[in-house]
Amino acid sequence: MCGVFGYIGNKTNIAPLVLEGLKSLEYRGYDSWGVAVVALNLQPEIKNKIYFKKRIGKIGGANVDSLPAGSLAIGHTRWATHGGVTRENAHPHLDCTESIALIHNGIVENYIDLKKELLAGNHVFKSETDTEVIVHLLEENSRKLSFEEAFLKTFNQLEGLNAIVAIDKKERVILAARKGSPLVIGFGKNEHFIASDPSALLPFTKDVYFLEDDQMAIIKDDSVKIININSAKEVKFLKQMLDWDVSSAEIGEFEHFMIKEIYDQPAVIHDIANNAIVGSDNILSLINEAEDIYLVGCGTASYACLVGKALFSKIAKKQVHAAIGSEFEDQLKFINKKSLIIALSQSGETIDLLEPVRKAQQKGAKILAFVNVLGSSLFRMADEKILIGAGLEKAVASTKAFIGKISHLLLLAYALDKRKSQGQRLLLEAVESIRIILQEKNLKNIKKLAHKISNEKDIFVIGRGLYFPASLEAALKIKEISYIHAEGVAAGELKHGPLALVEKDTPCIVLLPDDETTALTLANAMEMKARGGYIIGISSINHGVFDFYLPIANIGEASVLPMVVVSQLLAYYLTLEKKLDPDKPRNLAKSVTVR
Ligand code: M6R
Repeated sequence: MCGVFGYIGNKTNIAPLVLEGLKSLEYRGYDSWGVAVVALNLQPEIKNKIYFKKRIGKIGGANVDSLPAGSLAIGHTRWATHGGVTRENAHPHLDCTESIALIHNGIVENYIDLKKELLAGNHVFKSETDTEVIVHLLEENSRKLSFEEAFLKTFNQLEGLNAIVAIDKKERVILAARKGSPLVIGFGKNEHFIASDPSALLPFTKDVYFLEDDQMAIIKDDSVKIININSAKEVKFLKQMLDWDVSSAEIGEFEHFMIKEIYDQPAVIHDIANNAIVGSDNILSLINEAEDIYLVGCGTASYACLVGKALFSKIAKKQVHAAIGSEFEDQLKFINKKSLIIALSQSGETIDLLEPVRKAQQKGAKILAFVNVLGSSLFRMADEKILIGAGLEKAVASTKAFIGKISHLLLLAYALDKRKSQGQRLLLEAVESIRIILQEKNLKNIKKLAHKISNEKDIFVIGRGLYFPASLEAALKIKEISYIHAEGVAAGELKHGPLALVEKDTPCIVLLPDDETTALTLANAMEMKARGGYIIGISSINHGVFDFYLPIANIGEASVLPMVVVSQLLAYYLTLEKKLDPDKPRNLAKSVTVR
């Protein structure tokens, strides 16, 4: 969602650098942006003043040439919550005297009450945002307190989950605090950065500190101090090294990040097959000793949970529950010290997951996290963590993180059944199958299909057992980037409703494995065909019912991996057919940090 980037240090024209930082956060999704810079005293005609530029829409080819030189600046990409997409509502927000500039991620739940008091104190508001309340409150508190004390007091007056970053034209410092929304500090030589996402720091430094909840940072050119916001006492902190490659943040020869990330997948699976620690003794005993196990995630990750549930049942004969993060609160009453929560998340910052997982932890449950971002909130919260190892994922539509999650879960299911090497072998076969899918002649076939069905208004995807969640994932990929309505349906449920919508030429994708469910799934495909449906098979079996056939290898339960990859490619090419941007679908953000 909103992106934060800030700089303090020895560089002297940093507005363009902050804009570059914001560009690297574009993938998170946003609808307006802004940069504020404290002008350097070296320019007497400009005076020590905060200059800013705010715009609606994407940054695109925009520049910040109108901003003066400076070595202290903050920038923000906004994803509208309170107030529409307008220039006034874009961040940074300034106080009445334009001495303080502030950016914010999150929602101030008590902003109406705070605003009433500030209006009574004659503060003048220019926007409809909850954020502007914070900067006026900070102005108010600064009347009697130092900037640092006022910032601390202000943050403590806010209700809700928030991250704020502020600068003051009179002070050589960036102040930042977080509760809920992520912030990470980057350490350079005589310079420091702050960002909402470590990927923005990669071009500058890998040396970082992820601010904890309830911590405030006092960031100067040559020092960083961390304060506990409840005690106001300084706390010690340890820096971490980012393990991502700088090249993973670059698009390289590809047209979009999504297709680059689809191409990354064979390497991701290969690495998991060879190096994953899911079969370690402490992970296995954590699972074996738990009385009840819940796989929890949101969106694509929730489908990975359903795949995991099916894999655990099929391979390890182990029963686990699968739940959606935003619906998990209701299950909390069943959680106790003997429960294990397996939380899945690419970003590790999805608030709909973090909140219930935190509550489950408070009830004594153990947390095992599969997470892609080192140092993220989920990573830090979990008792045991496994890095998914997909590398930086930038496209809003999650591809390689999903494939990474289910590769780990497949391996874990085999390890639980003491057959880890069989799981590894299947994963390596999946690598080969996906490499073949990515060959030009197969891509041509998928593009041909995309061209044929891109003007349809509905697409149905059916699957059974392990392949039902894969059908949900295929449909999600199609709808979120191509905007074609797509629905994943448990094949056996067709006759209980969705079949009513199948008419002549309706595209119906059938995920057909070669296993005990083949005959029944084929029968369901026939039912759709009998209603005029255009039947597209993703399968190792080229059955006569298919009007269009997309081949994959038969590799047991690992067949789910190439099946999903084919559906990702179909979603991607459908989107290109419709001349849309697959990396930045409308209304969606990469990391969902508000509820
Ligand atoms: O970062 P997370 O894995 O926790 O994200 C969860 C969902 O927001 C995410 O998977 C979302 O559904 C994607 N846009 C799907 O492609």
